[in-house]
Amino acid sequence: MFDNIATNYDFLNHFFSFGIDHLWRRKVVKILKPLKPVSILDIATGTGDLAIREVKLNPEKIVGIDISGNMLRIGEEKVLAAKLDNIISFKQADSAEIPFDENTFEAVTVAFGVRNFEDLDKSLSEIFRVLKKNGQLAVLEFSMPEKFPFKQFYKIYLNKIIPLAGKIISKDVSAYSYLSVSIGAFPSGEKFLDYMKKAGFIKTFQRRLTFGVASVYVGTK
Ligand SMILES: C[S@@+](CC[C@H](N)C(=O)[O-])C[C@H]1O[C@@H](n2cnc3c(N)ncnc32)[C@H](O)[C@@H]1O
Repeated sequence: MFDNIATNYDFLNHFFSFGIDHLWRRKVVKILKPLKPVSILDIATGTGDLAIREVKLNPEKIVGIDISGNMLRIGEEKVLAAKLDNIISFKQADSAEIPFDENTFEAVTVAFGVRNFEDLDKSLSEIFRVLKKNGQLAVLEFSMPEKFPFKQFYKIYLNKIIPLAGKIISKDVSAYSYLSVSIGAFPSGEKFLDYMKKAGFIKTFQRRLTFGVASVYVGTK
């Protein structure tokens, strides 16, 4: 599915979030700042927006992995254009089988990816494996606002407006209805923190962003 929408992905992402997705990725970087990571793995990196933002953390290397070759190709173009190919590299790989040794990275990030993982438990234990001790995982993902009237407005936006506009602009009928369904089905909040704990993470916490439309989940190995 992401191979099909790759060319429109960046535009639609910023369009539907009114550009707020940039602020959310910035928040992830801010949370990781005290860790001073030397090497970072960005999983489900897509077209590389979070990986590119993570350069602000001054790491020696950032690796982005994704299962979609088309998303990665756009990411590679962006990294070359920004002359960041000495820091950022990409690899086509699945979160459930991360092609790196254990204890490799100080930080692992996933933005808007965990919702799509076929095997969430396996992916989280793979992330735990490749993290160094005291390393941190930061996951940025959509969540559901809980308070009136934002909750009601957001449901209409998610279930009606986004699928319709996504269909018109991306010409992929299923992709943006999938977005609404997958956000609704995702185990957000405490449930996701429980998944992280089950994989071995400690000091887990959730930061809600923009009335709870998105959240950052953090855990330490
Ligand atoms: C919504 S995009 C997010 C891209 C990027 N992180 C961002 O913030 O814009 C989700 C990405 O997850 C990737 N993906 C889905 N399942 C995956 C998996 N099991 N392993 C790696 N990548 C995966 C998709 O190919 C897609 O590029």
